[in-house]
Amino acid sequence: MVKELNPSIRVLMGPGPSDVHPRVLKAMAKPLIGHLDPQFIQIMDEVKEMARQLFQTENQITSVISATGSAGMETCFVNLLEPGDEALVCVSGVFGNRMCDIVERCGAKLIRVDAPWGTPVDPAKVKEALEKSNPKIVAIVHAETSTGVLQPLEEISKMVHDAGALFLVDAVTSLGGTPVKVDTWGIDAIYSGSQKCISAPPGLSPVSFSPKALEVMDSRKTKVQSWYLDMSMIRNYWAGAKRAYHHTGPISMIYSIHEALRIVLEEGLEKRFERHLRNHQILRDGLESMGFEFLVAPDYRLPMLNAIKIPAGFDDAIIRGRLLNEYNIEIGAGLGEFAGKVWRIGLMGESSSLNHINMLLSALRQIMG
Ligand SMILES: Cc1ncc(COP(=O)(O)O)c(C=O)c1O
Repeated sequence: MVKELNPSIRVLMGPGPSDVHPRVLKAMAKPLIGHLDPQFIQIMDEVKEMARQLFQTENQITSVISATGSAGMETCFVNLLEPGDEALVCVSGVFGNRMCDIVERCGAKLIRVDAPWGTPVDPAKVKEALEKSNPKIVAIVHAETSTGVLQPLEEISKMVHDAGALFLVDAVTSLGGTPVKVDTWGIDAIYSGSQKCISAPPGLSPVSFSPKALEVMDSRKTKVQSWYLDMSMIRNYWAGAKRAYHHTGPISMIYSIHEALRIVLEEGLEKRFERHLRNHQILRDGLESMGFEFLVAPDYRLPMLNAIKIPAGFDDAIIRGRLLNEYNIEIGAGLGEFAGKVWRIGLMGESSSLNHINMLLSALRQIMG
């Protein structure tokens, strides 16, 4: 007989998932109702409205994809690109590379603007690339979780619109932890993930599309290559009272994001962003006093994801293993070229707290001396 599940109570300080508030777990245990039940339609409407507030947008088409952040990424590309289109992707880490892979799978022509990992993409390079190409969309990652870089967006957004392209942004790690101003910054397509600064379990991806992006979708000549992620159907599914069945909504997951978004808005966006910044500074001071160095220059550091260099003479896997097994603390390993060289410490949503910081700093002091 397989034993009942008994996972350890971890302190989640990696690149996501983050810790979840007990209210969110309680919401997931509420009774199931049918996904076409009028009560569930109201819950979906409330989720849409709260997601709009978080994205700081009036976009009518703001909803939640029933799958993780990568599905949000794929939704944006497959709905906006058709075979033969050009797409310019800014790459400074793992998730920019993932965007490139999706662009090619759409049959579109890929143009890359690369930046060294650990630095933001230089707007001058984007400008140069735009002068030599005619992309339908320009895509960029706002918070590159693989490196800890916060990418400034406004200057690039202006160039993209001057070039007549759509601006597509990955806000998986930034949304809920630092300002993401969809309307003010002229973002046409954006996606996020439930498990980072929103602090719900992984499995959902909030998305939003500008009226201009909708026009592009509505004038497609070819069918969207993915049935499941086709926004022309998902839009109707999330359309309110007149909704049409598309797939069976993940009821308990929608309960979870409903409660998590209520918590975000109860705290208030500005206060939440300040908390993330303040806790990042406290962690930074503690780590620097122990001799750690940050990977990213101060102006471009993410408040919710701290990438630090592993000091010479310390073994990455052994220390992370001890943190997990002896202290129940999870931090993230380096990815790609930073594997074995960098740790990624998340302070996302519920995990952005003084308690988390103090637990990690004292555990590191005990392990590393
Ligand atoms: C910046 C960024 N984009 C996309 C993703 C993919 O999201 P998911 O793992 O939820 O599919 C992640 C996940 O860590 C991410 O950090």
